[in-house]
Amino acid sequence: MTRIGILISGRGSNMAALIDAARAPGCPFEVAIVASDNADAPGLAHAAAQGIATFVGPKGKIAREAAIDAVFRAHAVETIALAGYMRLLSDEFVGRWRGRIVNIHPSLLPRYKGLDTHARAIAAGDTESGCSVHVVTEALDGGAVLGQARVAILPGDTAERLAERVLAAEHLLYPKVLAEFVTR
Ligand code: GRF
Repeated sequence: MTRIGILISGRGSNMAALIDAARAPGCPFEVAIVASDNADAPGLAHAAAQGIATFVGPKGKIAREAAIDAVFRAHAVETIALAGYMRLLSDEFVGRWRGRIVNIHPSLLPRYKGLDTHARAIAAGDTESGCSVHVVTEALDGGAVLGQARVAILPGDTAERLAERVLAAEHLLYPKVLAEFVTR
């Protein structure tokens, strides 16, 4: 059973999908702790209500990453899952967890790294978008893609409507790919 530490900044719907999946019989991972840079992240309250340990990092990147690193090690975390964590991790942090951090990104990487992926896909006239789970490296949204789900862009789609459908795909993709990743 692989122990997962999840990092969030906000809503935490992907976090919730991972927590739910971890409870299913046969799931090869368990959620050991959820940490955030933001004490007000709604996902933290949800995790706590589910009986999962939570942690809020202090202000300042160096202090925050050192604290998260220490608390994850104290909880015997083996793999880190980013789920809407809105800060760039330092090269040093990525190096310490090399090959053991994954992220979900709302585009078909390598297209649309960074923010506003849905608006950019619509503006480009794309007929499909989707989401990707990838290994985290020092390059923003740049590590090896582990799995993707495709979602059609419909005529008249807004970024909000597309985001909603992609999010539903994220909730199915992330647990599946994480399970494959920890048993690879
Ligand atoms: C998701 O769209 C995810 O792909 C991106 O940030 C969003 C987080 O949403 N990295 P949530 O906090 O998991 O609901």
